[in-house]
This record gives sequence, structure tokens and C-alpha cells, in this order.
Amino acid sequence: MYPVARSLLFRLDPETAHRLTLTGLDAAHRLRLAGRFGGRFESGAPVETMGLSFANRVGLAAGLDKNADHLDALGALGFGFVEVGTVTPKAQQGNPRPRLFRLTGPQAIINRMGFNNAGVDHLVANVRRSRYAGVIGINIGKNLTTPVERAVDDYVTCLQRAHAAAHYITVNVSSPNTPGLRSLQFGEHLDSLLGALKQEATRLDAANGRRVPLAVKIAPDMSRDEIGLVAAALKANAIDGVIATNTTIARENVVGTPHAHEAGGLSGAPLFATSTAVVRELRRLLPDMPIIGAGGIDSGVRASEKCQAGADLVQLYTGFIYRGPELVGECVEATRRTDDFDSAAL
Ligand code: FNR
Repeated sequence: MYPVARSLLFRLDPETAHRLTLTGLDAAHRLRLAGRFGGRFESGAPVETMGLSFANRVGLAAGLDKNADHLDALGALGFGFVEVGTVTPKAQQGNPRPRLFRLTGPQAIINRMGFNNAGVDHLVANVRRSRYAGVIGINIGKNLTTPVERAVDDYVTCLQRAHAAAHYITVNVSSPNTPGLRSLQFGEHLDSLLGALKQEATRLDAANGRRVPLAVKIAPDMSRDEIGLVAAALKANAIDGVIATNTTIARENVVGTPHAHEAGGLSGAPLFATSTAVVRELRRLLPDMPIIGAGGIDSGVRASEKCQAGADLVQLYTGFIYRGPELVGECVEATRRTDDFDSAAL
């Protein structure tokens, strides 16, 4: 059914198609049809990582449901976890349109959305109303108008407002579409940001009587040395998990494709090898760190390869746009056998 819907949707401007799809999904969910499009929660043994219990290894990546407006309908497709956001303290419009481009040949997307979102309070209200029974991650960032030197204030504000509603919080320092944001991945910036967030998270954990793990989401555009420095900072600040990766600013895998020159982050199949190499390097450096692998997963085989490289969990975005809900069940099935991954990761 999805291939038919997709051929109609792909004739529309990508942002309109995105909105219509999610509205349609909500309607189907209200009519209790959404489960027919996708999978169900895995009934096998849950995956325990970051101190949380996941019904399966397959999650929805951040950015598809920025405001948690569609959490129940998306959750009903069988994801073991859904990450909502990126959200900022105040609502903001994001970049002017067009800001979302399909590269259909290489099965990729370029986006420069720029954290368009309705603000953290709107998102938290939606999460509280939700009936989704899986794990919910809330991905936080900074407003465009907040200078990078004061970014920590925005992240702390989001953490404070989102803590009680989230199962885990993701610190997004890797979007290419907010000027200066990715500089927070390096050196002093990263250490002081993570130090401040960890301290606040520990205080909130005690105050709320519930531990909420912190994950950091990183970019794929890093040298080995840079990955090493990030890994050291994650460890030094006792961060609970890492998400590898966000979109890439590289274009070498899509040269000559229509829209390849557009500014923004590239996602989808051309990102698979680079993002998986980052997972592999992180696993080598941080044998015990929970890793969530994202980037270019468009089949069960790709999901399984991500786990073999060292990911404990995986996330989908672009593959889900191209393949539809059937991809969820395929990835759940392919990543079910845990023993294989444990031995391969060593
Ligand atoms: C994203 N991604 C993203 N990530 C994030 O941390 N916060 C965000 O707001 C967004 N927004 C966003 C919008 C769009 C249109 C896309 C395509 C992607 C990145 C996403 O979560 C994921 O990390 C990458 O897209 C890589 O995975 P895929 O798409 O190759 O499966």
C-alpha cells in the first residue's frame, strides 16, 4: 500500500507531503488502522541499555516529529522507541522554504529545516498526553537567536522542562543547520556543556526520584582524532549514551545528482558507510558505552550491519520515508538475535 501512496506523495513538494502523511497517519490511528501498516512491539526479550528497557532495537530518529504532535500514531507502527524534537526553549520558524529536498536516485534527503519547532512546553504537553507505551527520547537544542557562548543556558532550560516527561534526553550538538552549533562538539565547549548538563541532570534525577539518561548526538563529519576527543569527553562526563550520527555536510557520494548542491544535511543511503564507521570507532574506544546507530538504514540487512559495527539500538528516518512502515518490522526482525552482535562487536 505504501508504494502507491508514496508515488502520489512524491509528486508533491516534500514538506507538504510530510505534513499530509503525518495527518493521514493520525487519522488512520484514530480509526485504529495504523497497526495494519506496520509491525507490532516485539514479544521477545526486551533490550536493556542506558538503564532502560526497549521492546525492540528499532527507533524513530529525531526530526520527523519535532513537536511530538504524532507520537501515538508513529509509535503504533512498531517502533521500540521514538525520539521527538529537536526542540528549543522558545518556538521558532526555522529557515525559509524550500528547505527540504529529495534526492530520489541515491535515496537520500537534504534538509536545512533549522529547528523549526513549537517550543519545549508544547512538546512536553504532547508527550504527557501520549499513550505510547515505548521509550520516548526528547532531543534538545538551542534557539537560533541564542549566541553559541550562551548555548548551555538553552540546553539546561530544555533539560529542566523535559526531564520529568522523558525516558532519555538527547543533547543535539550536530545539526548543520544552526550556525555554530557543531562547534559545541569540540574541546572546551563540549566539556563545559556536558559537565553543566550532567550536573543538572543528576540534580533533577534526585529531585524527581527517577534517573533520566543523557545521550549525545554527534555528526559524521569527524576525523579519527576528533572522534577520539569526543569519546574522551563522553567518558569524562559520565554520559549515558551516544547517537551516531546526524546528517552530513559532505556531498562526495551524490555529486551530479539533482539538488546535491543544496545547503544542509544529507541523510539516507549515501550516509550509511560514514556513519557506520563512526559507530565502529566509538565501539572500539568505548566498549561499554550504549550506542544508538543512525544513518542510511534502508533494510533489515543495513540495520543488522549497524549492530554488527557496535550499535545497541538503531534509528530510522530517511529509509522510513522511502520504504514506509514495512521497514520497521523488517529491521526489528533482522536485529532480534542479540548474541551475534555481542560477539561481532568485540
Ligand atoms: C533530521 N535529523 C535530525 N536530527 C536531530 O537530531 N534533530 C533534528 O531536528 C533533525 N531533523 C531532521 C530533519 C530531516 C528532514 C532529516 C532528514 C533528518 C537527522 C536524523 O535524525 C538522522 O540522524 C539522520 O537523518 C540520519 O539517519 P537517516 O535519515 O539516514 O536514516
